[in-house]
Amino acid sequence: MSFVIWLTGMSGAGKTTVARGLAEALRARGVAKLEVLDGDAVRENLSKGLGFSKEDRDTNVARIAFVAQLLARNEVNVIVAAISPYAEARAAARERIGASFVEVHVDCSLPELVRRDVKGLYAKALAGDLAHFTGVSDPYEAPENPEIRVSSESQSAEQSVAMILAFLEARGEL
Ligand code: ADX
Repeated sequence: MSFVIWLTGMSGAGKTTVARGLAEALRARGVAKLEVLDGDAVRENLSKGLGFSKEDRDTNVARIAFVAQLLARNEVNVIVAAISPYAEARAAARERIGASFVEVHVDCSLPELVRRDVKGLYAKALAGDLAHFTGVSDPYEAPENPEIRVSSESQSAEQSVAMILAFLEARGEL
């Protein structure tokens, strides 16, 4: 069966880094049918024009889930990297995708995200210049029971990737 690895976590937590590392590791193991649906690329294409209201984020996540399901049912494995902050929208994605769905929380504390602030968005949000910014002026509902939880604060990206690979191996996917 194919899998959909769904990486959820706040901006700058390391979803894209883990997605890239995981894709590379999977390809090295001979997983050739693989697509990465990354939040930033999705928003430039499939979800162009959407903003960051709850409604728009839910629409974005539903579109990603729709595409992931189309791919997965054709035996293409998928890695999703999107904040996907709302538990209900992630539950709907899980429902749609079924047993292939593997939720991975890419965790990182707010102080550490603010310290990194690669895109400068946390500083803006904390200054009150960015409304609806996840973790500052908008909610992030951390998953209560993800299949896997990794932390970019206490683990390297390689360790996070290794945990996901071990999970897939234990499930007999690799
Ligand atoms: S989601 O909430 O709809 O899943 P998505 O992962 O696609 O979000 O996009 C998040 C990216 O958009 C962030 O990494 C950040 O670069 C950018 N961004 C711009 N405005 C916001 C905002 N208000 N909240 C979160 N991310 C934002």
